[in-house]
Amino acid sequence: MNIRLAAQHDLKTILAIERVCFKKNAWTKDMFTDMFKDPMYTFFAVDSGDRLVAYAVLKTVEQEAEIDNLVVHGDFRRRRIGELLLDKMLVQVTQSGVKEVFLEVDTDNLPAMALYEKKGFKKLTLRKNYYGDSDAWTYRLSMYNPQCTSCNLK
Ligand SMILES: CC(C)(COP(=O)(O)OP(=O)(O)OC[C@H]1O[C@@H](n2cnc3c(N)ncnc32)[C@H](O)[C@@H]1OP(=O)(O)O)[C@@H](O)C(=O)NCCC(=O)NCCS
Repeated sequence: MNIRLAAQHDLKTILAIERVCFKKNAWTKDMFTDMFKDPMYTFFAVDSGDRLVAYAVLKTVEQEAEIDNLVVHGDFRRRRIGELLLDKMLVQVTQSGVKEVFLEVDTDNLPAMALYEKKGFKKLTLRKNYYGDSDAWTYRLSMYNPQCTSCNLK
């Protein structure tokens, strides 16, 4: 498994995974392309052999970060790839002086909630209809949380 920065030429594969995963809520090509150009965003990809199998988007603004997307291809789930990618992002934000990380999760998305809670994220607020017809939990991770083992990996 290799974690690297995603590049424009990965977009076709990323869009294919994104559409299968999120269907009508999938991000569009234009949304991804804008993020590639914006220095606030870091775009990660994970390869298994020569195949891109996961990606994530991290937004960092001074001492706050936001995980805006984290997706593992359906055929590659439950192999610790999501956790590995999340650890990578948490190490990066810790090293760049970030104090808190935020994200939103669909309230029905039990795998993602379990992953984030395993890393020490705590539920903050419920956002009704955040995803149109479903609600979202906002989660926050304080980098001082001792449960955040990745925050100490440096
Ligand atoms: C959420 C997601 C990224 C997890 O990736 P993954 O590589 O399958 O997860 P991992 O194998 O790294 O699992 C790490 C931890 O996540 C949790 N987890 C992952 N899948 C789970 C599942 N199906 N049920 C319950 N817990 C799960 C567990 O806590 C697990 O730790 P454990 O194995 O010690 O129990 C993946 O399911 C996915 O891509 N989902 C669709 C996209 C999405 O919803 N992204 C998050 C919203 S931004």
